[in-house]
Amino acid sequence: MLTRRAALTTLAGGLAAPALLSLSRADAIRPLAPAPAFSGTPAIHELTLEAKPRRVKLLGPQGPESTLWTYADEPCPTIRLRRGDRLRATLRNSLAEHTSIHWHGVRVPNEMDGVQFVTQKPVEPGESFLYDFTVPDTGTFFFHPHCNESGQVGHGLVGVLIVEGDESRPFDDELVLVARDWRLDRDGSFLPFGTDSGAARAGTFGTIRTVNGVTNFARKVPASADLRLRLLNLDATRHLDVGVEGAVALVIAIDGNPVEPFRLDSWRIGAASRLDLVLRTPKAGGKVLVRDYFPAEIHDLAVLEAEGQDRRATDFDPAPLYASSLPEADLARAETQAYVFGAASDAIASFIDTLDPDDPLSKVILDDLCTASRTFWAINKRSWPNDGHRNLPPPLARLKAGESYRFVLQNATPHPHPIHLHGHTFKVLSSSKRQIPVHHADTVLVLPKERIEIAFVATPGRWMFHCHILEHLETGMMGYFANS
Ligand code: C2O
Ligand code: CU
Repeated sequence: MLTRRAALTTLAGGLAAPALLSLSRADAIRPLAPAPAFSGTPAIHELTLEAKPRRVKLLGPQGPESTLWTYADEPCPTIRLRRGDRLRATLRNSLAEHTSIHWHGVRVPNEMDGVQFVTQKPVEPGESFLYDFTVPDTGTFFFHPHCNESGQVGHGLVGVLIVEGDESRPFDDELVLVARDWRLDRDGSFLPFGTDSGAARAGTFGTIRTVNGVTNFARKVPASADLRLRLLNLDATRHLDVGVEGAVALVIAIDGNPVEPFRLDSWRIGAASRLDLVLRTPKAGGKVLVRDYFPAEIHDLAVLEAEGQDRRATDFDPAPLYASSLPEADLARAETQAYVFGAASDAIASFIDTLDPDDPLSKVILDDLCTASRTFWAINKRSWPNDGHRNLPPPLARLKAGESYRFVLQNATPHPHPIHLHGHTFKVLSSSKRQIPVHHADTVLVLPKERIEIAFVATPGRWMFHCHILEHLETGMMGYFANS
């Protein structure tokens, strides 16, 4: 088993980290420049996303086929537009159950947010729905359904949305890496997406890990080039501790929001979060590894091999992205509210947590709970009802549109929770446990016993607020705000 330290010291040959590159400018904190004003006419992107079962081989070319549910023939389609463009995407539902599309992290008008029973009627089998909005921010986003999430996302329904226009000086090349697991049996059929013991703890993990739909992602990249990586963690459960070996990498955006570049050591990408990096590729033949240090044994997400002529002869000094143009919360006047993420029933859930996962007693209790209720989690002691949004509970709060809020997010459980707020990009101000740079995000991982402060300006509408471990939101850790 290789630890990160051991891996770093055993690097050899083509994997050796490049001699210390000059990072004088990139290392210094420099404010991001604002993007130039729009010029020209925004483009309109007209497209159809048909949710339907499609046969795909996930277990290798020799392996069996699996019946995925996808939006297009390409299992995880990528939509690319430029900031200010208009997207007109028709969802056609060719599944046997209702669905919708939520545009994760995109500041859409409330009626385009894609949450059944909350912002729109469910799109029933055979029906269509037009999502029509202008994209206000650049960045790396994604989209997914918002009902029966573990089942629909588990079967494959997910896509990438990239909004360009943030590069103040273009990089040489770009690679999008979508990491996710699949719950597949060896014959290619799906295993149950959720388990009670997983839902009541850290979530149920997949049986195979993939990047861009393959288990061992490798790619040739141009030599001595500034390469942008857009890493998306679209797993239902898993968090990644991402690091890069064989090149110096800088973090340039978090959840699509530009940050002053800082050197990546390793960064935890919680489920549903994204990280944009830029790195200088090695000379031809050299390799770069994108690795996940989270599991006991290091997992390689991608192996990149440089080829061809050097693209650049100068030192690595990539230009930062343009600053985002998000509304700035007024911290002096912001109202503070506290949200505690905890167990639905302290007695039962904390009792289960004291048991060994393999203890037959824990299984008996959980199976029993299942028949009684599959509600394990709560926000401020209130659990989302277990009936797929049909009976809307009262909102967690009613926020005033245009006003600033400071939320204290407190994790009272032994598991990390990636907390997502719809329709807003918030500023992560501080953590009670970690040194984290102030940055903007739409999803923030709150570690066990950690307190994280965020701030944002409220917008009108009903906006969901939940943990993005899909089994957690489905078993209670979800609520919404009704803002006017
Ligand atoms: Cu990607 Cu309600 O979330
Ligand atoms: Cu959670």
